[in-house]
Amino acid sequence: MFLISLALSLCGADEGFGRTEVIDNTLNPDFVRKYILDYFFEEKQNLRFDFLSSFQLCKSFIIFCVLHRGIPGKKCGTIILSAEELSNCRDSATMQFCANKLDKKDFFGKSDPFMVFYRSNEDGTFTICHKTEVVKNTLNPVWQPFTIPVRALCNGDYDSHDFIGDFTTSYRELARGQSQFNVYEVINTKKKMKKKKYVNSGTVTLLSFSVESEFTFLDYIKGGTQINFTVAIDFTASNGNPSQSTSLHYMNPYQLNAYAMALKAVGEIIQDYDSDKMFPALGFGAKLPPDGRVSHEFPLNGNMENPYCNGIEGILEAYHQSLKTVQLYGPTNFAPVVNHVARYAAAVQDGSQYFVLLIITDGVISDMAQTKEAIVNGAKLPMSIIIVGVGQAEFDAMVELDGDDIRISSRGKLAERDIVQFVPFRDYMDRTGNHVLSMARLAKDVLAEIPDQFISYMKSRGIKPNPAPPPYTPPGHQHHHTQI
Ligand SMILES: *[C@@H]1O[C@H](CO)[C@@H](O)[C@H](O)[C@H]1NC(C)=O
Repeated sequence: MFLISLALSLCGADEGFGRTEVIDNTLNPDFVRKYILDYFFEEKQNLRFDFLSSFQLCKSFIIFCVLHRGIPGKKCGTIILSAEELSNCRDSATMQFCANKLDKKDFFGKSDPFMVFYRSNEDGTFTICHKTEVVKNTLNPVWQPFTIPVRALCNGDYDSHDFIGDFTTSYRELARGQSQFNVYEVINTKKKMKKKKYVNSGTVTLLSFSVESEFTFLDYIKGGTQINFTVAIDFTASNGNPSQSTSLHYMNPYQLNAYAMALKAVGEIIQDYDSDKMFPALGFGAKLPPDGRVSHEFPLNGNMENPYCNGIEGILEAYHQSLKTVQLYGPTNFAPVVNHVARYAAAVQDGSQYFVLLIITDGVISDMAQTKEAIVNGAKLPMSIIIVGVGQAEFDAMVELDGDDIRISSRGKLAERDIVQFVPFRDYMDRTGNHVLSMARLAKDVLAEIPDQFISYMKSRGIKPNPAPPPYTPPGHQHHHTQI
């Protein structure tokens, strides 16, 4: 056994932002200190872990090897990293109360009752967190339902009113909903002390209670929702002959063309959410061997039964292979690939899968009416469409499909939600058109709307995430880590 002290220091991309406490004399340090870090779906966030030991400061995992007296290539330990989104303030409760036979307070009429809710603080003080409206001139008021964040914290003012009485309850009790347990006697302590026959100053009844959680994209991913990422590539003749350097499909052994760059930038982010990393990839607008028929939804790997490619590299490989075998043709029809994915999405509407279709195209769309119809239908399904426009064409039609300004419609039907995000690839290229200025920025802009589109679907269908499975604990750590 080595006697050592360990600390783990956590560094963001540019600067360090935290260090755990030092734990002495252990080879299985269980760090207590937690770090809160902003999470962005659309960015790759690299974290660097530095171990600080009493021996020396060294980067990444090297310290474990040092502990084992530096045996190269020997597996020396495991770090368990648990990440959790802060769930504070996400639940909100909606409730409604009424009261019966309250004390009469007004000299000329009855009472003008309202309720004030106080939250009990840890130090024993109380903070106002909600006030109902005043119901005039009644001893049996029914207040409007109201919604407050479960962790509501309001700095209320305390102005003077005639006090009828009070009662205490807990969130747990209220959450039982309307029942005999949620009828409360309103007690005026002063009055009770003065009058022998005092029973109460009326009763308050909870009429209804419900809690709504605001779930996040990560809640669903942790609960097991799979992202099905499908790629569709434009093989129409307007892209130019792939053997010529002016072609958007130019196969240059030394450099990725625009299609490959766009695919890589977006795919590398999104693949992190797809557990098996097997991606169906389609092409459209080409003449296929052997008979030369035109297809608007052919598998890049030539296998319709199994259109999956292994990782982003697998898609790139199948893409290059297709360029050698098919003939670029036309017209540029989007509707077939949108409907293709929609057919699969229609079969799993229970929230267990969400489909993302990435269409990379040079943008001269020929079936606008059909595509709009396909999008309006797709908006009802668990799917989103990302369109990356490559080349110098006018992309007015794509901007229209994006629907950020005017929600897309077809034959008088408005799309239920926005499911299309369009990005012109040239905005991210340098002047020569050969280099992407920032792959990260491209991916960020392309993917930014996906989490909201995803949530809008789940919410509209009332789908809640499954509870996340317990975090992984290796043998020997069973009683640790579960809280982190
Ligand atoms: C994902 O979607 C594609 C269609 O775009 C389909 O071919 C494939 O079977 C789907 N995968 C799963 C696991 O449902």
